[in-house]
Amino acid sequence: MTNSSTSDKEFKNIPKHIAVIMDGNGRWAQAQGKTRVSGHKAGVESVRAVVKGARKLGVEALTLFAFSSENWQRPEKEVTVLMDLFMYVLTKEVKRLHKNNIRFQVIGDLSRFSDKLQKSIQKSEQLTEKNTGLTLSIAANYGGRWDITNAAKQLVKQVESKQISLNDINETSLNQYVCLANLPSLDLLIRTGGDFRISNFLLWQAAYAELYFSETLWPDFNEEAFEKAINVFEQRERRYGKTGEQVKK
Ligand code: IPE
Ligand code: IPE
Ligand code: MG
Repeated sequence: MTNSSTSDKEFKNIPKHIAVIMDGNGRWAQAQGKTRVSGHKAGVESVRAVVKGARKLGVEALTLFAFSSENWQRPEKEVTVLMDLFMYVLTKEVKRLHKNNIRFQVIGDLSRFSDKLQKSIQKSEQLTEKNTGLTLSIAANYGGRWDITNAAKQLVKQVESKQISLNDINETSLNQYVCLANLPSLDLLIRTGGDFRISNFLLWQAAYAELYFSETLWPDFNEEAFEKAINVFEQRERRYGKTGEQVKK
């Protein structure tokens, strides 16, 4: 268990793996009479804030939902801007991530991205792959159903090539092929922006995650808000199907 304290808060049981559905950029921008795009740009600052907070507290893994497999349905202009922003952030921020010993990876179906973006992702992952600090995973063109389907396909391939038999397919073997399998299991799933849904994010991985919903729109979410979510997490009793008495022992 990690013990850390900041100036005003005490932390006793810091989640090892936190994921965030970063929602509310568009509404934040619209509320200020700006274009949705400026909301996405402002959201980058909140990404920096939660990465900083996660590092400070010794969180092992942080997984951020940046673009869902459903987000292609948005107006083409907005999709283009999001892709450009992604490219820009990659080239601009990855050196800093590397300097801070952060391991960076992107999860999702990358085949739909431009060659340029795919190469940039690959380069960033290679640059930081040996880092031992926080693992930062960005979910891009990610969908929980895609993830599980993809894992199932990998297993079927192994059955077809007779490397395993049908009886070897179980939760443990499937788990090896879903995204983030090499990381601690998901402890805390945060969604900002006031909606109470998972929107096809980490369906498999969130099985026993604690859920935390915040009304705050993503560009207003800061380190303090992140720490508040962790404090709430620390007060939860995780029973995993057992009784309260059993887990208190
Ligand atoms: C989240 O903010 C960012 C992405 C989905 C890319 P939104 O763009 O969904 O913002 P709202 O929900 O419309 O306010
Ligand atoms: C979820 O937000 C996806 C990301 C934050 C990247 P959406 O704004 O796409 O979710 P819905 O459409 O409200 O469910
Ligand atoms: Mg949204």
